[in-house]
This record gives sequence, C-alpha cells and structure tokens, in this order.
Amino acid sequence: MKILLVGNGAREHIMAEKLAESPKCTELIVYASAVNPGIKKLTSAYRVGSLADMQAIQDFAKEQKPDFAVVGPDNPIADGAGDKLAEIGIPSASPVSKCAQLESSKSFTRDLLKKYNIPGNPDFKTFTSEEGMLEYAKGLGEIVVKADGLTGGKGVHVQGDHFNTIEEGIEYAKSCLESDGKVVIEEKFVGQEFSLMSFVDGEHVVDMPPIQDHKRAFEGDTGPNTGGMGCYNYPGNLPFLVEQDLVDAHEITVQTAKAIKEELGIPFKGIMYGGFIVTKNGVKLIEYNARLGDPEAMNALSILQTDYVDICKAIIDGTLDKLDIRFAGKATVVKYAVPEGYPTNPTKGTEITIGELPDGVKMYYASVNEVDGKLIMGGSRTVAFVGIGDTIEDAERLAEQGVNSVKGPVFHRKDIGTKELIQKRVDMMDEIRKV
Ligand code: GLY
Repeated sequence: MKILLVGNGAREHIMAEKLAESPKCTELIVYASAVNPGIKKLTSAYRVGSLADMQAIQDFAKEQKPDFAVVGPDNPIADGAGDKLAEIGIPSASPVSKCAQLESSKSFTRDLLKKYNIPGNPDFKTFTSEEGMLEYAKGLGEIVVKADGLTGGKGVHVQGDHFNTIEEGIEYAKSCLESDGKVVIEEKFVGQEFSLMSFVDGEHVVDMPPIQDHKRAFEGDTGPNTGGMGCYNYPGNLPFLVEQDLVDAHEITVQTAKAIKEELGIPFKGIMYGGFIVTKNGVKLIEYNARLGDPEAMNALSILQTDYVDICKAIIDGTLDKLDIRFAGKATVVKYAVPEGYPTNPTKGTEITIGELPDGVKMYYASVNEVDGKLIMGGSRTVAFVGIGDTIEDAERLAEQGVNSVKGPVFHRKDIGTKELIQKRVDMMDEIRKV
C-alpha cells in the first residue's frame, strides 16, 4: 500500500516509522510544512507546503494516488484534510472536520456529553455575550475559562494557574468573546490528569495504555504551559489510578463515539484522545482531542506490537474488533529537548548536534530543519527521546541519557519520569481519595 502522512513533528516522525516498518507499506509519502530529516529518509515523495492549504494537500494526493491517508496535527484535521481527501476517493484513518469538532469546539463536546447523558462533564455554560457571566462564574467556586476553538494549547485558562480571581478569569472570557464570539466557563476539577488515547472506527474503541503528560516548562510543574515537555507510562496502569478509573474513562469514550454518530450521522474514525482527570468524585473529562497526543504518541507507538498499517486499515474499514491490538508491557519515558527561552522567547536558527544514543533509546525530530547537512533549531520543541525499559527507573535513565546527547542551546525537564515526582502524584491522589 502507498500511504500518505500529513505533518512533520516528532509525533508524525514516529507515525512515519511505524507505517514504514510494516511489510504492507510499499511507499510512504508525506505532505509537511518543513523538512523533518527523520521522516524524509522514510519517504518516496516529500512535499513541503502550508498545513493550512487543504487544496494543496488534495493536489498532492491526486498526483500520488495513495491508498489511504493519516493526518497527524490538529489544525489540518479540523480544517478538513480528511474531507478533501474523501472528495477524491482517498479514505483517512483520521476524522473528517465535523467529527473533529470534538477537539475544535469545546462547547460542541460539552453539549454533546450533556445531551446524551454521558458522565464526566463539569458544571459548565457556554456564553455568546457577557450577560450573566460573572454571576454564573461566582456560583462555581474555582473556574476554568476555555476559548471555544483551536488555540495551539493556549486557550484554556485555569484559576490558580493562569489567573487568580474570578474577575480576572472573566476578563479573559471577554477577550475570548471578542475574538471568537463564544466562550465556555466551567467548574475546575482537582486531581491527577492522564491521557487515554483510543483507536476508534466509528463502532469499536480500543484503548492505548494510560500516559501522563507534563505541560509546564520547568521542573516541579512550574513555569508557562507548553505543548508537553515529556510523558511516561508504566507497564500496566499508572500508579495513581485504579483499574476502575480506566474502565470509567473507556466507557466515556465509547458513549461519546456512539453519541457523535447519532448526532452527526457520521462515524468518528481516528483517534479519540481523552484528557481525563481523576478526582474525589471519580474520572472526569477535561477535553477530547481528535488525534494522537504529542508527546504521548511516542510512548504508545514505541510499545505497539500490532502492525500500525493494519490498525489504520481497520479504523477505515470499521473492523477494529477483528484485530488483536497489543502493547508490550514496558515502561516508557519521553523527554523533549526544547530551545532555551521556550516557550515564550525561544532560541531559533542555531545549530545542534546529537551524540551517539545508547541501546533502548529512540530519537524523534520535531522543530528542527536540516540545512546543508546541519540540524538547525526551528524554535518549538526540538527533539524527543524515548527510553523504553522493564521498569520506570530504566526508562527514565535511558531517556535522560538520550536527551543529554544533544549539544546546543536547549534544556529539558530532568524530573519527568522520576520516582520523586511520580510519588508526589500518588500521595496527592491518596489524600484526595481519603476525603
Ligand atoms: N500532549 C498534549 C497534546 O498533544 O495536546
């Protein structure tokens, strides 16, 4: 099969690797916004263009005639890359834009869960004018304010993290109204967050292992929010979750997939990535994404044992129930090397070099361009390293060795995947569950 992949981050680098390693993939072609040196090596055709240009994606596919496509990043999924490809008869293992509202409209998802009585929603309200906003917010205790659309991870403002008083939150809500015409205000949940990503074919839902991301730039979960500095998983469950938490999160995704089909008349095909939080009242939904997480994709796909091409085909054909999808019972830790000054004032245009990697460490390029044989930093997350081991200690040590092999103006979070940080999370959940 000839397969088209759209995107060029570290998430797409591992997607490309998993597609290319399948004996069923005879050719991998890529449409991307920049040359990712790791991805390019795996391809027979590599087109650079804007990821906002749906017509250019369709034109490339028309020329190349792939058997199917997979779209990595949120924006082209939301903007209808899958729809444009379907127009010329090319199916995608990624959702069409209507289904991708699950990620691209916060109010769509909240309203859907409410309408279909699916558990996991907070107390929330969508506003299209300022009227009643302050009174409603005051009645919630602590609040979260969400811009309705895609904002590159910057649209969700949480009381205590991004603002302190309700009044400050309302000021942000007003700015969302000005730019978007819509804003969601909701109750703040307290607990531990985890990502549960699922392959979905419209009917069947198959979960990947639960993973925990680290959004803050600096150690000890301090500093500004980022796209994600690193993630870890355990063999089996995360240590602050109980088995029932995974059962409950799975059930929310199953019911949501069913509700989308009923509401829109179109099956959701692709990845439903639940950003969940376990609270004193059980598992709640923070948000859904309609794609693989970045860095989470690198944890999950590193230990995926089933042929990824078979999974993509089963998503398209609605046959996930016929496939035995397995993950190795290993721990993984991903650490991103990011530019000094990231995310507010990142260094860019500077060369980095990468030393030899020990066995058990994998490397994925993100915002890095190859120019005249040199690796030049693009300004966003630069390179990701995945440590894979039988224990979290092994995986963390390997990821740390990997990320330390980068020479140049970069930094990373040393604490991701360490026993100390994970124990803090376990202790927090023990306290919360006691109440
Ligand atoms: N890990 C955060 C995201 O992919 O949105």
